[in-house]
Amino acid sequence: MPSIDVCYSPELLHLYELKGKAVVAVDILRATSTMVAAFAHGATDIIPVMQLEECRGYAEQGCLTAAERNGIKAEGFDLGNSPFAYMDGNVKGRTVAITTTNGTRAIRMSEAADEIIVGAFLNLEAVAQHLRELQLDVLVVCAGWKGKFNLEDTLYAGALAERLQDDFTFENDATLASLYLYHAAKHDMVSFLRQSSHVQRLENLEIHKDIEFCLQHDTYDVLPVWKKDRLVDISLEVRKLES
Ligand code: MLT
Repeated sequence: MPSIDVCYSPELLHLYELKGKAVVAVDILRATSTMVAAFAHGATDIIPVMQLEECRGYAEQGCLTAAERNGIKAEGFDLGNSPFAYMDGNVKGRTVAITTTNGTRAIRMSEAADEIIVGAFLNLEAVAQHLRELQLDVLVVCAGWKGKFNLEDTLYAGALAERLQDDFTFENDATLASLYLYHAAKHDMVSFLRQSSHVQRLENLEIHKDIEFCLQHDTYDVLPVWKKDRLVDISLEVRKLES
């Protein structure tokens, strides 16, 4: 039986072997939630990059460019990091290059894995079902905040562990702790997270509706996966194989 493990911050990744594993990269507030929403609204592919300058450069290739730092949209880019900015048909059929404070970093630092999957509460079951089929050991990589632990990504790890508990063993206490936290929070995650650092940060930036939206479960069945140098949605491919 494969196992599921949790890495609370990209800064801890050197402690984990990624080869032979499927990484689920998660940044609930808001990077991976936004990427899932972008694919659900027709984006063809997403290029996560680390640096603002590199992201800006993709405009020359006709890509939409998106950038956020410290929760705020960066100057001179087409989009920020709110999922709602990707929902009015503007990303349909487009490539989006994106850089964020933590989420894009967690994805790019996981490239040694056999597969990188973008996880969010919005596509929780789509990811869980794909992992059941993949039958690889799983490592959930939490984006955290500037290298530090955060609550919302850990709750996601707990939610995924709950969905997989019949088909996966728990590798260590990080998975168990994440599950216990999720059990404590799942009945009212908005209230549970009210005191958390990034919710406070977003609330101070008058960013309210993103929080509730990013905590919704199973809104979309998209499956963003890393292919060579970008993310593509393989959900259609997977559904074809299942049919
Ligand atoms: C991040 O990557 O740090 C987050 O997604 C920040 C945010 O957009 O709130």
